[in-house]
Amino acid sequence: MAANRGFTPVPWAAAGGDPPCHIVAAGGAAYGNLKARMEDIIKTEELGFDYIRRNENGEVECIVRAVDDVNISVKKGEFVVILGANGSGKSTLAKHLNALLKPTDGTVWVDGMDTAEDGLLWEVRRTAGMVFQNPDNQIIGQVVDEDVAFGPENLGVPGPELPGRVEESLKAVDIYGLKDSPTISLSGGQKQRVSIAGILAMHPTCIVLDEPTAMLDPAGRKEVMRALLALNDVEEITVIHITHNMDEAVNADRIIVMDHGKVALSGTPTQVFSRVEELLAYGLTVPDAVMLAYELRKAGIGIPEGIVTGPQLTEALINEYNH
Ligand SMILES: Nc1ncnc2c1ncn2[C@@H]1O[C@H](COP(=O)(O)OP(=O)(O)OP(=O)(O)O)[C@@H](O)[C@H]1O
Ligand SMILES: [Mg+2]
Repeated sequence: MAANRGFTPVPWAAAGGDPPCHIVAAGGAAYGNLKARMEDIIKTEELGFDYIRRNENGEVECIVRAVDDVNISVKKGEFVVILGANGSGKSTLAKHLNALLKPTDGTVWVDGMDTAEDGLLWEVRRTAGMVFQNPDNQIIGQVVDEDVAFGPENLGVPGPELPGRVEESLKAVDIYGLKDSPTISLSGGQKQRVSIAGILAMHPTCIVLDEPTAMLDPAGRKEVMRALLALNDVEEITVIHITHNMDEAVNADRIIVMDHGKVALSGTPTQVFSRVEELLAYGLTVPDAVMLAYELRKAGIGIPEGIVTGPQLTEALINEYNH
C-alpha cells in the first residue's frame, strides 16, 4: 500500500500488500506489473447495464446504455479513485459493486461472489459497503452510537458485541468523542464519518463511496478524505472513491477514468495526470499543479513529466531556476 500516513491500527486490520501499478488505455491493454499475490476484491467482466424506460403500457420507450463493456479489477487494500464527467456511468458502475443494480450483460464479482445471485445479496452488501453523496439521507439513528450500531444489528450481530463494534468504528474515523451526540447536531463532514463508521461496523472488506464529499465544505471534505486515507492505510480496507474533485485523486493508488460508460484510462495518478489533453477531452479538469506544469512545459520551460502536487512543482521550478 501507499506509505503509512501515520494512523493507529484498529483490531480488524487485514493483511498487507503493495499497490499495483499499471495503466490501461481505452481498449484495455495493460502495461506494467500487477502484484499477483494481491487478491481481487472486485472484478467486473464485460459489464454492461441498460436503463430501460417504459410507458404506461409497459412498452419500451428508451434504452440508455449507462455502462458498456467494463472490465475492472480492484485488489484488496487498493485505494481507487473513479473520475468521469457527468453521466459517464460512475454511479451506475458503483451500484453494481454493492448489488444495488444487477448487470444487463457480463458479471460482477465481489470477493468471489457473483452479485447476480440473489442468495448472496446481503453478503455482497456487507463485504462492499456503500456511502452516498447526501449525509442526511444515510443517517437514521437519533444518536451517533445508535446509528452506527444499526447496520451490524440488522446483520444479526449479537447485542453484547455491538458496543465494541461501534467503538472501534468510531475510533477508526476519529469521532469516538461524538458517540453520544445527537446526529442532528453534526456537521456535514462529521455526518459522513458517522455514515462511514456505520459501514465499518459491519466489518466490510471494501467501501464504495459515490461522491461522499460533494456536499461538504472544504473542511468537511478534508476530514472525510483523511478518514478514508487512514482506513485504507491502517486497516487496509479497500476504498473505491468516486469524485469530481481532482485533488482527492492525487493520493490514490490508482485512478480509473470513465467516459460514455466505458473505462477510458486506468493507472497511477502520475500516469493518468500525464494525459492532460485526453482528460480535458473527457470533460475533466486536472489538479492545478498538473495544469500549471503542463502550461509551463508548453511554454518551453523545462518542467519534468510526472508532477501532480504543488510541492513537486515548486521543487521543479526551483531546480529550473537554479539551472
Ligand atoms: N435511473 C435512470 N434512468 C435512466 N437513465 C439513467 C438513470 N440513472 C442514470 N441514467 C443515465 O445513465 C448514464 C450514466 O449515469 P450515471 O448516473 O451512472 O453517471 P455518473 O457518472 O454517476 O454521473 P454524475 O457525475 O452526474 O453523478 C447517464 O446517461 C444517465 O442519464
Ligand atoms: Mg453519479
